[in-house]
Amino acid sequence: MLRAERLRKVFRSGDSDLVLFDNLSFELKAGEMLALVGESGAGKSTLLHILGALDRPSGGDVYFAQLRLNTLSGDAAADFRNREIGFVWQFHYLLPEFTAAENVAMPLLLRGQSWDQVETEALKWLREVGLEERSQHRSGELSGGEQQRVALARALITRPKILFADEPTGDLDNKTAETVFRLIARLHHDYQLTSLIATHNLLFARRCQRVLRLDRGKIEEVMPESLPAGAA
Ligand SMILES: Nc1ncnc2c1ncn2[C@@H]1O[C@H](COP(=O)(O)OP(=O)(O)OP(=O)(O)O)[C@@H](O)[C@H]1O
Ligand SMILES: [Mg+2]
Repeated sequence: MLRAERLRKVFRSGDSDLVLFDNLSFELKAGEMLALVGESGAGKSTLLHILGALDRPSGGDVYFAQLRLNTLSGDAAADFRNREIGFVWQFHYLLPEFTAAENVAMPLLLRGQSWDQVETEALKWLREVGLEERSQHRSGELSGGEQQRVALARALITRPKILFADEPTGDLDNKTAETVFRLIARLHHDYQLTSLIATHNLLFARRCQRVLRLDRGKIEEVMPESLPAGAA
């Protein structure tokens, strides 16, 4: 479904180059739920941005099926993201003055669909994340966990094939994080998504099918069950 080939990313900082990674190759197969782990600064977010066509590698290629993402123009990349990918970030980026339902519907409204066309779908997705009764609440009035659930509904309303989540539970307390992680796992399963989740939470990573660790520019596959099972 998604293939990274010999990816390289270099950031210029002043006169020197920061080589974040080089010669990075791996594949994400349809239906897999994969955790991306690694120390802070290892490059997880950068890699997610490249795989999601939000950023370009300095070298190498990213393929979505036969489509080479890193050569798409800005518009084509935006179009690709809009059609195929759902993103969830550590911070939800909801519009606080809009209702939960409006926030969920936003990707479809931005495509030019009318409220009447999208309302039913927005309510359906709020139901999926257990927040249908909060549909008319402004998102700024919801708790952090509820906002993240709204963000998840918004990410999936376009029916993407791939879900990218960057620290989706990073801002939440343990119990709320568990609720959100479970929800992601259920929706992954119910909607046959292919999911890539960057996380510092090894207990969650352990529950994914596959784990990739990014460490000093190299990526290695780690057996999920080899990660610590106790409290982090
Ligand atoms: N636009 C940029 N310009 C220069 N350096 C950058 C840029 N974006 C990221 N970096 C650097 O690349 C490195 C990796 O950043 P990245 O955010 O990908 O790490 P991360 O693994 O997601 O970390 P965290 O777990 O803290 O989220 C960091 O050292 C960061 O400072
Ligand atoms: Mg990050």
